[in-house]
Amino acid sequence: MRTIVILISGRGSNMQAIIRAAQNEKWPVKIAAVISNRTDASGLRFATEEGIPAIVVPHKDYATREAFDAALQSRIDEFAPDLLVLAGFMRVLTARFVGHYAGRMLNIHPSLLPSFIGLATHRQALAAGVKIHGATVHFVTADLDHGPIVAQATVPVLADDTEDTLAARVLEQEHLIYPQAIRSFIEGRLSLIDGIACIATDKVEPPAH
Ligand code: GAR
Repeated sequence: MRTIVILISGRGSNMQAIIRAAQNEKWPVKIAAVISNRTDASGLRFATEEGIPAIVVPHKDYATREAFDAALQSRIDEFAPDLLVLAGFMRVLTARFVGHYAGRMLNIHPSLLPSFIGLATHRQALAAGVKIHGATVHFVTADLDHGPIVAQATVPVLADDTEDTLAARVLEQEHLIYPQAIRSFIEGRLSLIDGIACIATDKVEPPAH
């Protein structure tokens, strides 16, 4: 049985997709906690309804990024997670925090990385005139939105797209690829080899520790 902690900042639709996939596909996993940096994150209610501890560590309570990250880390580590999942967690993390979860922290980003890092990715895609857009699951490293790519999904950009229509099309794909990427980690099929993420198709036992 593996343990996951999920971090959110808002509505948590990716978190919901992950929890539902874990339930429906009977993953050998415990989703130990959902933690938000914002008290008003609407996704917290879903977690509570599912019986998962929903915790807030408000970033506003801390004077520095380092102090917030240290507080967040100590709450997370109470659950000793095998995997930390960022699901719409909208805080830049310090190198120290990222280093602590090296190789066991995943993020989903709403673009085809390495294109369109940072915020407003759908606006960036429309401004660039790309015809294909999408989403990326990646390991988190200290270099923002540049960690090893685990999975990607593409969508067409249509002539009459707005940021909202494009975001909705991408989000639908996020809800498919993120649970499956997490499942491959849980099943011990996702590894980092020379900085490249590889997913094995044959299931192997995750290493005991
Ligand atoms: C998602 O589109 C996710 O890819 C994005 O925020 C949204 C969260 O939605 N994440 C980032 O932009 C991270 N830089 P959700 O709360 O409904 O999952």
